[in-house]
Amino acid sequence: MTERKQTLNVAMIGHGFIGRVHSNAFHQVGHFFDIPYKLHLKVVCGRDRTKLDAMASQWGWEGTETDWRAVISRPDIQIVDIAAPNVLHAPIALAAAQAGKIVLCEKPLAMSLEEAEAMAKAVDGLPNLVWFNYRRVPAIAFARALINEGRTGQTFHYRSTYLHQSGTDPARASGWRFKRSEAGSGAMGDLLSHSVDLGFHLNGAITELMAMTHTFVPEREVDDAVMFLARFTNGSIGTFEASRFAVGCRNRNTFEIHGSRGMLRFNMENMNQLEFYDATEAPNLQGTRNLMITGPDHPYSSNFWKPGHIIGYEHTFIATLGDFFGALARHEGFHPDFEDAVLVQRALSAVERSAVSRSWVSLK
Ligand SMILES: NC(=O)c1ccc[n+]([C@@H]2O[C@H](COP(=O)([O-])OP(=O)(O)OC[C@H]3O[C@@H](n4cnc5c(N)ncnc54)[C@H](O)[C@@H]3O)[C@@H](O)[C@H]2O)c1
Repeated sequence: MTERKQTLNVAMIGHGFIGRVHSNAFHQVGHFFDIPYKLHLKVVCGRDRTKLDAMASQWGWEGTETDWRAVISRPDIQIVDIAAPNVLHAPIALAAAQAGKIVLCEKPLAMSLEEAEAMAKAVDGLPNLVWFNYRRVPAIAFARALINEGRTGQTFHYRSTYLHQSGTDPARASGWRFKRSEAGSGAMGDLLSHSVDLGFHLNGAITELMAMTHTFVPEREVDDAVMFLARFTNGSIGTFEASRFAVGCRNRNTFEIHGSRGMLRFNMENMNQLEFYDATEAPNLQGTRNLMITGPDHPYSSNFWKPGHIIGYEHTFIATLGDFFGALARHEGFHPDFEDAVLVQRALSAVERSAVSRSWVSLK
């Protein structure tokens, strides 16, 4: 039988937690989305040969490499996927863009706003993606559709939290995520970056913000917790809180929107559900509905399982790739891209400045 699909060879740099998630998504996307590409997992890159061999064998990568520069220079690679610590995002993305590759990069895009802007400039004209995967949670995509249809009306409040307890355990807190030179920041880049991207996606741009950061462990170089107040261009006000010291929370990524016509509430720990309150109903019938966003007629329900058959974290990465390759085939732009991530980085930079100056910072 003639192969109709174009083969794209993928190189992935980094094979830790998120490298496994990406490997799964590369394997699965063609099963759930009708894309005109066959992805070939060509080479996985890391530093430890033994771990790399185990990764390649378990996740079906054809080859391994310990020097990411050697990977970028290979003419048989079309896609470079950056799944490495934050400090490596810019050098790898810049080199990959220079070599004309399709560039996929993990969040936070960069260590600084300047770095992020240089990266966005470098990939201009090349297909690119930033892994703000939560946009593809079906319940979040559905919340956005309801907002855009006007079902929540004029937004008054946007409330966001991203809560972990991962910073309290000294055994877990020795790696790159807790070093300023390798991570850039703490809860800010790690967790708040996702919340800010979702805030923009669901409620539009922020005009000004006022932030504080806090580090609970005296010798630690990065923030353990960060909070900010925001004014949005749509007239609403918001609060954002991200913490690695939220004991009792493993991955509590939430938002709540109160508008003139209704309320929406989401918690990633129950990611198949979305709470909706319709304030236009008869007062004696008003109450919060707990919607199961698994279909019918919900985002991505035709890609995954039958209604009521829940999906998980990994599906958000599969859906991200499904949409990305769909857009690529149609010669359309994809979001979130590097430009979207620059907007997030600009907000994070404002958060840092506000926390230091203890004053409001404009984002206009
Ligand atoms: N989108 C999400 O929800 C999400 C979730 C977790 C992590 N991330 C992001 O993914 C990235 C990686 O995080 P992680 O949790 O997988 O970290 P990790 O520590 O589990 O893995 C990091 C990997 O990078 C590799 N690496 C380090 N230095 C390298 C080098 N010089 N050359 C090649 N490889 C190198 C390590 O060998 C390891 O395989 C970070 O930017 C993080 O913010 C995103």
